[in-house]
Amino acid sequence: MQSLLNKKIILGISGGIAAYKSAELARLLMQEGADVQVVMTEAAQQFVTPVTMQALTGKPIYTSQWDSSIANNMAHIELSRAADAILIAPASADLMAKLSLGLADDLLSTMCLARDCPLLLAPAMNKQMWEHAATQRSVQRLTEDKVVLLGPASGFQACGEVGLGRMLEPAEITEQLIAFFQKKLLAGKRVLITAGPTFEAIDPVRGITNLSSGKMGFAIARAAVEAGAEVHIVAGPCDLVTPLEATGKITRTNIVSAKEMHAATMQSADCDIFFAVAAVADWGIAKPAKEKMKRQGKGAPSLEFSANPDILADIAKRVKTQGGKPHPYCVGFAAESADLAKHAEEKRKRKGIPMVVGNIGPNTFGSDLNQLLIIDEGGSKKIAKAEKLQLARQLIQLVAKKI
Ligand code: CTP
Repeated sequence: MQSLLNKKIILGISGGIAAYKSAELARLLMQEGADVQVVMTEAAQQFVTPVTMQALTGKPIYTSQWDSSIANNMAHIELSRAADAILIAPASADLMAKLSLGLADDLLSTMCLARDCPLLLAPAMNKQMWEHAATQRSVQRLTEDKVVLLGPASGFQACGEVGLGRMLEPAEITEQLIAFFQKKLLAGKRVLITAGPTFEAIDPVRGITNLSSGKMGFAIARAAVEAGAEVHIVAGPCDLVTPLEATGKITRTNIVSAKEMHAATMQSADCDIFFAVAAVADWGIAKPAKEKMKRQGKGAPSLEFSANPDILADIAKRVKTQGGKPHPYCVGFAAESADLAKHAEEKRKRKGIPMVVGNIGPNTFGSDLNQLLIIDEGGSKKIAKAEKLQLARQLIQLVAKKI
């Protein structure tokens, strides 16, 4: 799936060492389907050459407002008029100061002043420069002018210092640009999600788990952040990266067992929407062995199980009616081996929740694709096979309408 298809992006590059990452950024934007036009300042060309950017984007690079190849000699107007957004990465302290004052003394700054599309900046500079009162004044003014800042991040800097001022990685900038274009259907809402498998210990080295990869839960988390929500994800053992972490809009608690997932989820239960996507073990081992169990000529051991708490049912018990609607709005998931619609509806009623999402098999664990059966009080609706992120975005749209 290409999330920036048909988007015309002007990628502005100003003078800073992070400009070497702009080459990768251009590629990532293009991989997502964006039409990328690069504009570079004079200083940027000290760090990366227009030839590099031209070879990557397959387009001439604009560097001067005096470019006679533009028919009316108004490159600043022509370029920004056609764009869906201007993204400047890296944005240097000097450029930010200039833009905050409305100065326009080269093509990139003139274009920003003449634009009628959104402007996003990924700042990159030494930490002292970032912390300087003058830069912070620029940040404040730019924010007041509705310019969107992506980052900066904290970490090792080219100058050898450690601190705030690093440009976000190209992949993070791309994720945030994609998020920027999504409708803010959940602005101001708090979303809680359980995701992935749980692991029930038998002894310190063995346990019982399941095949859940966490991909669907993490896709919903990403789609919810994209839609403007504050998200908390309680994740079972999986190696997935927290999506859109650099936005500061998502927090994560890692747990191992179903009981831990229950405790962590109940702690964050104060939310507007709850998605129970995790494949929670219904039973744990009653008395896990403290030491590794030894074979030592004994026969096969028998395991005694005890029931785990039902997280979704416990959150559902807290639901109150707010403005005639259930709050929090709870969405359960069902993965069945047979009779999906029947079992899912039965689950919806038994758990007392308004919506159950069924994974239409066969086994979708670990796959990037899925197809869903949405069941609510109005009946059922199928969402055709697609990438999990695409399905998650559709699900968020449906739930946003419900609340
Ligand atoms: N769930 C939960 N806590 C549990 C078990 C399940 O929160 N201890 C949630 C899952 O995250 C999912 C929904 O309940 O959203 C349905 O899970 P499932 O295991 O299919 O349902 P069960 O109630 O366990 O029913 P059964 O296993 O008998 O099908």
